[in-house]
Amino acid sequence: MSTLLTIDDLKRQARRRVPKMFFDYADSGSWTEATYRANEEDFAKIKLRQRVLVDMTNRSLESTMIGEKVSMPIALAPTGLTGMQHADGEILAAQAAEEFGVPFTLSTMSICSIEDVAAATKKPFWFQLYVMRDRDFVASLIDRAKDAGCSALVLTLDLQILGQRHKDLRNGLSTPPKFTPKHVWQVATRPRWLVGMMGTRRRTFRNIACHAKGVTDLSSLAVWTAEQFDPRLSWKDVAWIKERWGGKLILKGILDPDDARMAAEAGADAIVVSNHGGRQLDGAPSSISVLPRVVEAVGDRVEVHFDGGIRSGQDVLKALCLGAKGTFIGRPFLYGLGAGGKDGVKLTLDILRKELDTTLALCGKRDITEVGKSLLYD
Ligand code: GLV
Repeated sequence: MSTLLTIDDLKRQARRRVPKMFFDYADSGSWTEATYRANEEDFAKIKLRQRVLVDMTNRSLESTMIGEKVSMPIALAPTGLTGMQHADGEILAAQAAEEFGVPFTLSTMSICSIEDVAAATKKPFWFQLYVMRDRDFVASLIDRAKDAGCSALVLTLDLQILGQRHKDLRNGLSTPPKFTPKHVWQVATRPRWLVGMMGTRRRTFRNIACHAKGVTDLSSLAVWTAEQFDPRLSWKDVAWIKERWGGKLILKGILDPDDARMAAEAGADAIVVSNHGGRQLDGAPSSISVLPRVVEAVGDRVEVHFDGGIRSGQDVLKALCLGAKGTFIGRPFLYGLGAGGKDGVKLTLDILRKELDTTLALCGKRDITEVGKSLLYD
């Protein structure tokens, strides 16, 4: 893996190793993918201020997110079907995050279950919740996350209904799943992936299968999830979830300053400025372009985290300078995972760490907690 130097290198390697339908699932945005592209493009427009002849020794990337110590302010975002990018993907990513001292967030729509990840890690991880119509099931997910010792609940607000991703439909990654000769070919041409998959029992949505009523196989599961996301989700539900959970609560999927204010009023510990990686409302602005407005709207009433379009340590620094206390990466770690399993995720984190550290120095700073708008051009 010595020639893999950038997140883009990892993406190319993942494309070669992961069956097309699953690589595309991670790589898609909704409809025209304009928002997905804007997330990355708008980072490139922000320019950093180069400073010289300042002491660059003893630099520190250490910070906190929701009061938890992190070795750098980069968390692994909740991503669906992670265990399809690589066998046991969620376990491997969680272990890589643990070794790096950064938070890992397990998605409701993961392949490895809450209990699988808890059994394979030592430190608490974060659990992302989707709200289903079946509130008893939601309550049981919250209780399972508590029992597993999760230290934060990340409630996703921007996926009450699903934005259409054309690639998933074209690839037949639909609900219920179709298996055609095309799929068999895609899998057969990725032998490394296939051998891994054959070596694990974890090949379906294990947070859900056998826990939700009537869900016994992949097909009934697919129908269930398509029907279950709750389009009536409201701030009242947030209050109920907060009460039931009783711990740190992060509200993810906020782009609008008004929603950010309401999230602060709802008593969130943090919000994540996010457009779901450009996978939901196509035509929405990039996350980075709205971050300053959201930060201004909430002041210090709630911690602001950021997600969307980060592909380098330079991008992380830009988000922090614009007021994010922490950042999330989704695709960058999925590419690492697809490219090389746990070592690939570690490489993702290592690439970002080195880029962030050197960039901080070249901007004339030594402490990541002291960066701000003064490091950027207007
Ligand atoms: C699920 O979170 C998705 O974006 O597919």
